[in-house]
Amino acid sequence: MGSTPLRRPLAGRVAVAGAVWLWIVAAAAVQAAAPAAQPADPGAAMAAPAPAAPSAEVLAQGKAQFEAACGACHGANGRGGRGGAPDLLTSPVALDDGVRFRDWVRKGSPEKGMPGFPLDDTSLDAVRAHLVSLAGQARRMGDRQIAIVGDPGRGRAYFEGAGGCTACHSLAGDFAGIGSRYPARVLQGRIVLPRGNGVHPGLLQLGVRIPGITDGAAVQDAPRTVTVSPRNGPPATGVLLAISDFDVSLRDASGAYRSFARHGAEPRVQVHDPAQWHVDHLARWSDDDLHDVTAFLLGQKVEAK
Ligand code: HEC
Ligand code: HEC
Repeated sequence: MGSTPLRRPLAGRVAVAGAVWLWIVAAAAVQAAAPAAQPADPGAAMAAPAPAAPSAEVLAQGKAQFEAACGACHGANGRGGRGGAPDLLTSPVALDDGVRFRDWVRKGSPEKGMPGFPLDDTSLDAVRAHLVSLAGQARRMGDRQIAIVGDPGRGRAYFEGAGGCTACHSLAGDFAGIGSRYPARVLQGRIVLPRGNGVHPGLLQLGVRIPGITDGAAVQDAPRTVTVSPRNGPPATGVLLAISDFDVSLRDASGAYRSFARHGAEPRVQVHDPAQWHVDHLARWSDDDLHDVTAFLLGQKVEAK
């Protein structure tokens, strides 16, 4: 993949990508609308007699408290956020044991960026009930939705054959256990465009918010890089920080921040996106291939040891 000229015509691709995302959004909405119809988690039911479900009032209180005290760092939906605040919907500290949770939150982890919260038992139990409820929803949505429509066998054939994915990815390497890393719709989003939680940037610009998807992504992306070549002076290369018609900024290998004003074609700016293949492929996905390959990758789980 070479350098990418700026301002490539994207309109046609965006339209197709929009259709794919609408499908994802629609599927998410259907799931969100019908949580009551989902069967209870059979494993949990067998392990121990289920404790009485928390009342709607307790859940509402926990939600309000969580969003006010914790959401700024952990994401309004608990999925993790800025400054290393982890995803609480997969956290044993948050989910496994109420006593441990209370102790943990009261002490916090000040050296690593979480202050302690002197909250009473009732408040903390309500916050935890809210998190447990969110985690249950996330699990049901992630596990169900996409696996139903795709065929993993055809997905494997596409992955290893016509799709050409193995030119860059390997089931024994970067994709080992990938099905355990993301919920289904996030995985599908990242297949289409490996950015953030796999939500089309246009949706974010429109202000569309999908709980569990558009917020709190604890996902590392390979950054775009840029080379800026002023006519009178040495070129600068580094991680692209921001670009507009008027300026471009980067962080170079020494960690220094560099910013350049732009006047038309001066200086010359070349952006390189490591995920360019995915950008180019946006217009070529068929629904069937996408669903099949998603179902296949979703089945690549980490082996239990
Ligand atoms: C200022 C940011 C911030 C706020 C506010 C915050 N946290 Fe945290 N939280 C963090 C960070 C950072 C960590 C990781 C700390 C570590 O690794 O030791 C963390 C870790 C946790 C963990 C441990 C997760 C695990 O699996 O290791 C729990 C549980 C938790 N927070 C709950 C809460 C709750 C509940 C609230 C609100 C009452 C809250 N946090 C508010 C930043 C924050
Ligand atoms: C020319 C190289 C190339 C090809 C071919 C390619 N990809 Fe990728 N893909 C990438 C790069 C580079 C990234 C990483 C971007 C990042 O880390 O931010 C990526 C990321 C991904 C991710 C997200 C991984 C993660 O850990 O979040 C998925 C899923 C994915 N690709 C699936 C596919 C599938 C399915 C195909 C075939 C239909 C495919 N890719 C073909 C280069 C490629």
